[in-house]
Amino acid sequence: MSKTPALKGLELYRKIRNEFIGLNTKYLLANGETKKRIYLDSTASTLMMKPAFDIMEKFLHHYANTHSEMHFDAKISSREYQWVHDKILSFLNADPNVYTCFFTGSGTTAAVNRMARVFRDIRPEKDVAIVSIMEHHSNDLPHRKHMKEVVHVPVEFNENQMLCVSLPLMEAELKKYGDRVNYVAVTGVSNVTGIINPLKKIAKLAHKYGALILVDGAQTAAHLPIEISNQDDPEASFDAFVFSGHKTYVPGSPGVVVAKKAHLLAIEPEEVGGGMVKEVFETEYEVKTEFPDREEAGTPNILGAIGLGAVIDVLDRIGMDVLEAEEDKIMAYALEKMNEVEGLVIYGSTCMKTCPRAASISFNLRDIDHGLVAGVLNDYFNIAVRNQCFCAHPYVKEMLVADMKLNSTFTDIKELKFSLGLKKGMVRASLGLYNTREDVDALVAALDHITKNIEFYQSQYIVNENETYVHKTFYFDHKTRFSISGALDDMFKK
Ligand SMILES: Cc1ncc(COP(=O)(O)O)c(C=O)c1O
Repeated sequence: MSKTPALKGLELYRKIRNEFIGLNTKYLLANGETKKRIYLDSTASTLMMKPAFDIMEKFLHHYANTHSEMHFDAKISSREYQWVHDKILSFLNADPNVYTCFFTGSGTTAAVNRMARVFRDIRPEKDVAIVSIMEHHSNDLPHRKHMKEVVHVPVEFNENQMLCVSLPLMEAELKKYGDRVNYVAVTGVSNVTGIINPLKKIAKLAHKYGALILVDGAQTAAHLPIEISNQDDPEASFDAFVFSGHKTYVPGSPGVVVAKKAHLLAIEPEEVGGGMVKEVFETEYEVKTEFPDREEAGTPNILGAIGLGAVIDVLDRIGMDVLEAEEDKIMAYALEKMNEVEGLVIYGSTCMKTCPRAASISFNLRDIDHGLVAGVLNDYFNIAVRNQCFCAHPYVKEMLVADMKLNSTFTDIKELKFSLGLKKGMVRASLGLYNTREDVDALVAALDHITKNIEFYQSQYIVNENETYVHKTFYFDHKTRFSISGALDDMFKK
């Protein structure tokens, strides 16, 4: 082990930004140029942090099942696997005496489903969940399925601009549904607008009315400091916080739950199988009381967890307050520059002082279909963005309707909603810790170019039967760039 002190803080942030796999990926474009890709789709999935990948490779030399015990590799695997759980608890400021961390599925969706069932089962008499209108379907549909009723709380407005979830309206619903409310489930950061919700205030509000709080941290864990246990104000603590490793710079890592042990101990774990039982008899079995074992039936995603542990350690060494301050600067720059593009509408308030944001910016070029904009950004500029409704249909629709009300001649809201149709959506540019001002400049220049040359771009595409924009002459054959069997052929060339 090296005796030289390790980098941390801003210095480590500056170094690590260049160390992601895929930052130099190039593609041949529709205009004949070959360009480096600019990845602005981190809200969907982030790129892989190279040092974490290297740690996974190093670990593979010692890989073993964590349920084995006596051999050297089993000891390394089990102890490092456990260390990752402890590291996540300390990274998220969760008191290890009160909280446990366990892994489930491939992302936040499995984690939300799991906790919705837990909260339902420990308080079956309380059959209502309160969510915000801002939620991703993964923090809405599980509650619709597992609870009897789900109430959607609208957002606040300031001068016709949407802000975070409305606390007065949430309080009104908590009062209205009273003892029936089991929990409030809310996202820390919207995956559409990047708008940040005041989580501590929401937790206090939920607890004031006897409700629990589940935080969807899918877009929060990699961007903001989190305090799950609030020592000064215990009512502001969360009952559960969930996030996805694949949105935290480790593709292939699991979904994460951090939850109060007391809630989990109140019922038998949802999933049963090997690893979570103390003893099994012919007709009965005894579940372990130790965490995380009792919540992780079967062989876990050990390798993914090791990669996640490495990234969490790197983020911790940088310091989430340092990271947040740096990301805020790029976000503010992006909002300012994008606002200068003629005809570009950004959804949600763009005032970072009154409405803080992280990572995501969704927009449209007025009167240009989002599918065409996303297609042209990809095919001519090698800028990777996402379009459509980002698994948040009610929220996206709400914003499109609000914008149309302001900017069209429709007066009848029903007619307006109808005219919006199902095909409508937005374009989303989302930032990871590797994105720079130069990436923002490239996006802004491309969008400006598209608006000024829209007739040319429109003439280059047809819309197919799936309502997707397809270039008339340029065809991307993915196998020329990557296929599993092609890569294997290259590897095993005689
Ligand atoms: C806010 C939010 N919640 C939940 C999810 C679902 O996460 P996963 O696809 O990792 O299950 C996403 C994914 O984009 C998200 O952005």
